[in-house]
This record gives sequence, structure tokens and C-alpha cells, in this order.
Amino acid sequence: MNALAQQGWIWFSQALTQHSSFSGYFQPLIQLIAPQWSTDAYRAQVIEIRDELADMFTLVLKPKTGLIDQQWPSFKAGQFIELMVEKEGSRTLRCFSISSSPAHYKKTGLIELSIRIQRQGRITPWIREQMRVGSLVNISVAQGDFILPTPLVEKYLFIAGGSGITPFRSMLQQQLLSEETEQRDIHLLYYSRNNQHIAFQQELEQLQNNCPNITVTFINGEQEGFICEQHVQNYCPDYHQRTSFICGPSPMIQQARKVLSDLKVDNSKINFEFFGAAPIEMKSTGQAIVHFQASEKIVVSEENKTETLLEQAEAQGLTPVSGCRIGVCHQCICKKKSGIVFNTRTQQYSDTGSEEIQLCISVAQGDVVLDL
Ligand SMILES: Cc1cc2nc3c(=O)[nH]c(=O)nc-3n(C[C@H](O)[C@H](O)[C@H](O)COP(=O)(O)OP(=O)(O)OC[C@H]3O[C@@H](n4cnc5c(N)ncnc54)[C@H](O)[C@@H]3O)c2cc1C
Ligand code: FES
Repeated sequence: MNALAQQGWIWFSQALTQHSSFSGYFQPLIQLIAPQWSTDAYRAQVIEIRDELADMFTLVLKPKTGLIDQQWPSFKAGQFIELMVEKEGSRTLRCFSISSSPAHYKKTGLIELSIRIQRQGRITPWIREQMRVGSLVNISVAQGDFILPTPLVEKYLFIAGGSGITPFRSMLQQQLLSEETEQRDIHLLYYSRNNQHIAFQQELEQLQNNCPNITVTFINGEQEGFICEQHVQNYCPDYHQRTSFICGPSPMIQQARKVLSDLKVDNSKINFEFFGAAPIEMKSTGQAIVHFQASEKIVVSEENKTETLLEQAEAQGLTPVSGCRIGVCHQCICKKKSGIVFNTRTQQYSDTGSEEIQLCISVAQGDVVLDL
């Protein structure tokens, strides 16, 4: 359908149903027979659940299960999806990197998510307990820019911590399965808590044996400690020739970035992906006054206490819509009328003008007025 016809179709649908698509209008009816069906997500079926470690499992999913389902577009190795589940009547979403490769999806129509069970988490233990082969879930399109650059450079240093191995598994599998003839030189430093916590160990060892240009160094945190300059220099002496990718718990990412920076690796060659809210790394704000104009509430934030605007709003008893709380789902978008905010995900300051911001990753820098 060309753009004009598409506009016309949306107008026609809106005129008749107040929805931008007929499927949106019929959604409640369709959900009576297909409860997980949704117009704003893609449906996928659980094909297999595989335990990787005592606290980590892989969910094998087949997107597009029925005739009425939309075709799920493909992805790039390293990207993540939002997994939407319905728990106790409320829809919740969580982000997970796709741990299998695009080449594997092309061949089998399947994608894999490898999920660490968070002991006090709301959703990950529930997924492991409640999901069965045949269960249906909703997934988003793949997102994120934790992907290898194009044109591909030749040498990479991957640094993974714990479940942060997942995007790297996808990239390594892609290197093995894709039909590209040119092979990249990859060195993976894989940090685990101890010997019992190394996911995909056999697979990675096999990969290393089959691909001479892939090197995997397993680092046992209990014996060798946290990432440090010596590890990088000893295990990967040509680190300065490589483009680095880091993924794992936030403190590990911060430490790895510092180590590489102290080793004089250029910032432009360091890529990283937080598996949660990014730490707030902004200059001291001094005192900031946030005016929630529509609710007629004013908050004076304490000096040296950095809270996101979402946290500040909630502390005032306001209930703005939110979802992921880490800047991914865009549900918390709100209009800033004036003032400067710091974006914890991009680490950038806004200008002073009116614009839409995400409350969960914005921190007031000085006085801010919000349409909330
Ligand atoms: C881009 C991206 C990609 C990701 N990819 C992956 C992946 O491939 N694999 C993976 O395993 N994870 C991945 N994650 C992380 C994953 O999304 C989170 O671990 C997951 O959302 C946790 O969901 P949950 O509901 O179980 O935990 P939540 O309920 O959201 O809790 C989050 C954390 O808070 C702790 N917590 C919760 N309640 C309490 C409490 N009362 N007291 C103390 N602590 C508490 C939990 O233990 C947990 O560590 C990714 C995250 C992002 C942003
Ligand atoms: S709550 Fe998801 S982006 Fe803010």
C-alpha cells in the first residue's frame, strides 16, 4: 500500500471506529478467542524451555504462530526485545537480549532469550515457574544499538559479566553461521561469579575450537577478582587495536569502562549495554525545584540526592504511567515546559525549551516545569 492509500485507510478506519486500524477496534473481541493477541505487539509461542544454570534458563520462541499474526521482522545480533507477559491481570514488560543469532532465525524461524532468574524479581521467577511449552507471549520488535558497526571492523574485544553474555552469544553464533566469508578476530573475556556460573561454557569452548579467530578467556571472579588493567593486558595484549563491547551488571560495566579508559583506549571505541537502569553520572545539581504544574505540586530536591523525575513524582503521590523504568518502553513520556534535564541513558543534558521527555531517565538540573 502506498503512503497516500495508507493515510486514506487510517482516516477511513478512524472515521468508523475511532481506531487507527480495524484490528485495534476488534482487538477486545479477538482476545476473547486468542487472549494474548495484540495489535501493538507480535505474538510468539514457547517452543522449548532449557535450563542453562541453576538460576538461568533459555526460552526458545517461535514468532508468528497463527494466520492472523503479523510477521515478526528480523533483528541484528546484539539487539534486545521487550517480552510482555500478563501476570495477575496486569500486563508487564521486561527487556531481554536475543541470545541466538539472526542466521539461526533465518534457518529455523526461532529466537532464544536466556534469562537469569532474579531472586526477588517480580517477573523472571514467575516466567520460569509458569511458562510451559505452548504458552503464548507478546514480544516487541528488536531494538537497541549494541550491535557491531558497519562496515565491520576487524578486531573486537568483548567483555561479558554473568548474564551479559547473551548479546555476545548472538554475535558469535552469527559469525559462525552467517554466510559472510570475511571473519572477524574476536577475543571474549567472560567473567563469572565462579565455576558453577558459566553459561554456554561447552558451546563457547566448541566455538573457539572451530573458529581460529575466536578466543574465549573464562575468568572466575572468586579466584581472579573483578576486571582490572592486568587482566586486559595479560589476556588480550593487543586490546588497543580492538573495538570494545561491554555487557553485564552496572558496576562491572562502570569498572570495565574505567579500566579501558585508564589504558588510554579511545572512548569512541568503547560500546556498552546496561542490563538495567543506567547509573546517574551527572555533575552535582545543587538545589532544583520541580514544578508539576497540572497537579499543582512543587518539589525542592535535596542537594546531592539525585532522583529521577518519575521517582520525584511518585514520592508526591502522583501516578504517571510507567512501564520498564529504564528508558525503553516510552510509556512515561511527559511534556517538559521549561528547564534543563539530564538524560541518564544518553548522558546528555537537554536544552531549556519545551519538549517531550521520559520521566524515568530524566533528572532535573536546576528548575524544571512539567505538564503533569
Ligand atoms: C537492554 C536490556 C537487555 C537485557 N537482557 C537480558 C538478558 O539477556 N538476560 C537477562 O537475564 N536479563 C537481561 N536484562 C535484565 C532483565 O531485564 C532484568 O533482570 C529483568 O527485567 C528483571 O525482571 P524481574 O521482574 O525478575 O525483576 P524486578 O522485579 O524488575 O527486579 C529488578 C531487580 O531488583 C531486585 N529486587 C526486586 N525486589 C527487591 C526487593 N524487595 N529487595 C531487594 N531486591 C529486589 C531483583 O532481585 C532484581 O535484581 C536486560 C535488560 C536490558 C535493559
Ligand atoms: S517507564 Fe519505560 S521508558 Fe520510562
